[in-house]
Amino acid sequence: MRKWITLLSVPLLSLAIFLGLYFFDNAESSNKGPVQPVRFSHKIHAGAENDQIPCQYCHSFVDVSPNPGIPSVQKCMGCHTHIAGRDVEYDFGGTTINLQQEIAKVREYWAKKEPIPWNKVNTMPGYVHFNHKRHIKRGFECATCHGDVANMDQVYQVTRLNMGFCITCHTENAKDHEELARLKDCLSCHY
Ligand code: HEC
Ligand code: HEC
Ligand code: HEC
Ligand code: HEC
Ligand code: HEC
Repeated sequence: MRKWITLLSVPLLSLAIFLGLYFFDNAESSNKGPVQPVRFSHKIHAGAENDQIPCQYCHSFVDVSPNPGIPSVQKCMGCHTHIAGRDVEYDFGGTTINLQQEIAKVREYWAKKEPIPWNKVNTMPGYVHFNHKRHIKRGFECATCHGDVANMDQVYQVTRLNMGFCITCHTENAKDHEELARLKDCLSCHY
């Protein structure tokens, strides 16, 4: 019996280590966000020490539609036709990039008339409906759900956007019983 336990414990232990590494690795990568075709830094564009471009200049539909929108290459070129960028290295969250070379990629997409194939950062299953407009009109800041994006090079998801996250805030912020009932109604989010 003892021998069997010892024999079994080896694969079990390696399985445990494997799973541990797997989940650790997963947590790590979701923290940093996906690798994007252009290393676009929110810190450089929206950060307090840099350009401070308002979020809504680029995510223009956030207070008028369910979906905030990702800016087109044309919007980027509004500046990058004139701004070629300095020929300097920059530490983009641990990866060294050259500002001018990174901007050159944007100009290439423009020349080819192709959109930049950005990878999504926040993903929500198709059976959930989230509406930005309602939340922005109610006065919530972007940072409430997205964290301090203005200080991130690569944007990453700061909170798991699971059902508990939504319901907790709905429960805390409902004005009255009637609103609470609506905000907890399954069909408000699933339809
Ligand atoms: C100069 C244009 C620009 C400005 C200003 C800007 N963004 Fe973005 N934003 C982008 C682009 C391009 C992407 C897609 C690439 C990426 O995810 O890094 C993006 C992605 C995002 C995402 C992730 C989208 C997803 O896939 O889930 C969030 C969240 C976001 N921005 C929030 C903000 C907030 C908050 C601000 C203001 C503090 C802001 N952005 C300012 C251009 C901009
Ligand atoms: C309002 C003007 C403005 C807009 C709009 C703008 N940028 Fe920039 N961008 C700048 C400035 C200023 C710099 C800094 C250049 C420097 O320091 O040499 C910069 C730097 C960059 C860089 C190098 C630094 C980094 O973030 O990695 C990239 C890449 C870049 N922009 C891509 C984009 C993309 C993609 C868009 C559209 C989604 C965009 N920019 C929209 C002004 C703008
Ligand atoms: C109450 C929480 C909340 C607030 C406040 C909020 N967002 Fe979001 N945001 C989300 C969720 C949830 C998603 C994922 C939605 C989906 O995939 O359908 C998302 C997705 C996004 C995306 C990606 C959209 C796409 O097409 O891929 C952008 C860009 C974004 N938010 C920008 C912003 C900006 C800018 C603000 C502030 C003006 C803001 N958000 C405020 C919760 C929020
Ligand atoms: C920061 C707090 C907060 C978070 C987080 C939040 N909500 Fe909300 N949500 C509200 C409030 C408050 C309202 C009521 C807005 C109004 O109508 O004035 C609301 C309204 C809504 C509505 C409209 C309901 C209706 O029919 O009246 C939907 C749908 C919704 N939220 C979905 C979500 C989903 C899905 C998530 C999670 C991904 C989420 N919300 C996260 C605070 C929040
Ligand atoms: C405020 C928005 C909201 C309300 C109200 C809501 N849900 Fe969800 N629900 C979500 C979100 C967001 C997810 C996605 C979870 C994820 O991706 O982790 C989800 C996921 C689910 C799932 C998939 C399994 C899971 O747990 O991830 C089921 C089943 C579900 N909801 C049932 C319900 C039922 C039944 C009700 C009513 C009692 C309800 N939901 C009310 C936002 C909501």
